[in-house]
Parts: sequence; structure tokens; C-alpha cells
Amino acid sequence: MDMNDILDIVKKKARLKRRKIVIAEGWDERCLKAADHVLKEGYADLVLLGDEKKIKEEAKKFKVNITKAEIIDPKASKLREKLAKDLYELRKAKGLTEEQAGKLLDDVNYFGCMLVQTGYADGLAGSAICPTADLMRPALQIIKTKKDATLVSEVIVVDDRKNKRILFISDCSLNIDPDAEQLAQIGVNAADVAHAFGFKPKVSFLSFSTKGSGGDAPVILKSREATKIAQDKRLNYVFEGEMQADASLDPKAAGRKCPGAKVMGDANVLIFPNLVASNIACHLIMKLSESVFGITLLAGIRKPVMILGRSTPQDLVTNLVITAAMEANSEEG
Ligand SMILES: CC(C)(COP(=O)(O)OP(=O)(O)OC[C@H]1O[C@@H](n2cnc3c(N)ncnc32)[C@H](O)[C@@H]1OP(=O)(O)O)[C@@H](O)C(=O)NCCC(=O)NCCS
Repeated sequence: MDMNDILDIVKKKARLKRRKIVIAEGWDERCLKAADHVLKEGYADLVLLGDEKKIKEEAKKFKVNITKAEIIDPKASKLREKLAKDLYELRKAKGLTEEQAGKLLDDVNYFGCMLVQTGYADGLAGSAICPTADLMRPALQIIKTKKDATLVSEVIVVDDRKNKRILFISDCSLNIDPDAEQLAQIGVNAADVAHAFGFKPKVSFLSFSTKGSGGDAPVILKSREATKIAQDKRLNYVFEGEMQADASLDPKAAGRKCPGAKVMGDANVLIFPNLVASNIACHLIMKLSESVFGITLLAGIRKPVMILGRSTPQDLVTNLVITAAMEANSEEG
């Protein structure tokens, strides 16, 4: 299976039922171009958030057609009052006042999350301009984790073109310093995503040590412990750790470093020990290798939220909006 097969699955599933997806920063160039494509191909209905005049001016400037999109200005919308009440009800136990709820709705991310939470829309794509945390904070506070999930984590589907293989890597966006239990769940979430796309998950918990070669530093022990916890959670998947990236992806390196291991250079799911390692690796992969990011998904969240990213290429931004529609249909799929 290659990235085209994965994108075919995404597009087919997106079309199963016409969904309504909110694009939080509706005036952004890449978002407008994605909107044009998604509307033209009929993957989803779209709501673009932002100042209507500005959105239309930018659309004209970039020569995109967004006439079929609904445009909502959070600051002027008639939905505002009801959404503020709903937000207050949702978060009052956390100390949010009615006045604060009203103010938060000026923010396209809070407004967009409330549109999804209240069922006005089926999914949200954001953070094309703002930092990831500005989207994820309201998403986690308002939309929250699925009933059966213990945490939300991001999974990136990478097209390793040089070696003609697909890799699922996690978590490069969200969980800053997970403990062993959380890391195990990140591994399980990513493996479930790989499985849903038809792969047999072979998960490697990455470190700077392979099966004890680096000693017993706490950050190594964390990956080792996470491996055991994850294996207990999903007996039918293969989990191995701790492993270095070379032994995870290169059979020759594995032959020298860990003969007899369950993963011998054939991992298809890579789990980083923390966000420092993963986020740096992720940007290096994008800048230095032929590998490209096919799609990214949030696993464990109740309704689809897509992190678009400030340096993400146009193709990926477009695919992520389509992926939001696929995710919204995944229950029915
Ligand atoms: C996502 C993030 C913003 C949340 O942290 P925060 O703003 O400090 O907020 P909190 O830790 O108070 O969490 C806010 C809510 O989200 C929930 N939450 C936090 N992380 C979660 C996770 N991984 N899964 C599910 N829920 C989570 C908390 O339980 C809390 O819910 P509550 O308010 O209903 O009790 C933070 O983890 C973060 O900054 N991550 C890194 C983002 C980033 O910069 N990425 C790199 C660039 S891509």
C-alpha cells in the first residue's frame, strides 16, 4: 500500500456522507486554496471563519472560488449568544464566567470548536496561522477525548519514498513529556490508526538505546515500560522497545544491534519518547529527506480536529480538510 492508496481511502470515505467542516482561519491563502478544491470536488460543505470582507478580498486576490462556502464572522455572528451560553455551561465547573465565555468566542478556534461541539458542523481544521497550542487548548477543553480513549495524540502518516514504505509516527504535536502509561497509549493510538488503514502494526518505541544498550536512564526506562504496557493493551499487534531509529528501520542495523527482536528494521509505527525529540525529528524529515507527510490525524478526540500547521505545504493542507470529512464519516464507514 502506498500513499496514493491511503489518500484514495480518505477521499472515498470523505464522500460517504456530505459533512460540514469549519476552516478556522478562513482568510489564509492555503486555507482558501484548499476550500476552492474541496468545494469544487464536493468532498464537504465548508464554513470559513473570519471577517467576511477580508475573506472575499483574499479569495479574489488568490483567484479562488469560495462562493459555495458559508462565511461566519465570530465577532458579528447571530450564533454567538447561544454558543457563549453553551460554552459557559460546559466550562463553568472549571471556573469560566459568562463574561469570559463571551470573550473567548472572539477567537476563531474557540468559536470553531463550539460549532463542532454543538453539532452545527462535523469537524474543524485550524492552526494554519496560529500556533498549534492555540487550537489544541480549546479542542481538548471543549471537544475532549472519546469515551474509550485516555488521551488525544497526533499521528503523522509519512510517505518514505526512498524506501517505498509508509510510516506512522507519533506524537509530534501534542503531548510534551508523556509518562510511560501515556506513551503506551500514544503507541496504541498510532497502531490503531495504522490498523484502520489496513497495516499490521509493528510498533517501535524509539530511544537513543536499543534493548538496554544505553543503560537504564529514566527516559530509556520510560520507553521500555511503555512497550510492555502497550503490548498488554493490544495483544494482536507487535510492540518492541526501547529501540534506536536505525534498528527500527534498517534490518542490517537490527541484525547487529538486537538479533531476535520482534522488530528487525521493519517497524511501520514509530513512537518518540517526548515532544522535543519528535517535533525536531519531524521538521528535519520535512527539510532534509525525500519523505513527505501524507496526512496527519488526531487519534482519541471525540470529533475531528485537524492541525494544519504554519509551514505545511498546500497539498497537505488540502488533504487535511478532506481528512476531517473522512474522520467525521469514520463511525458510519
Ligand atoms: C495541548 C496543550 C496546549 C494543552 O495544555 P494546556 O493549555 O497547558 O492546558 P491543560 O494542560 O490545562 O489542559 C487543558 C485541557 O486539555 C486536556 N488535555 C491536555 N492534554 C491532553 C491530551 N493529550 N489528551 C486529552 N486531553 C488533554 C486537559 O485534561 C484539560 O482539560 P480540562 O480543562 O477539561 O480539565 C499543551 O499540551 C501544549 O502546549 N502542547 C504542545 C503544543 C505544541 O506547541 N506543539 C508543537 C508544535 S506542532
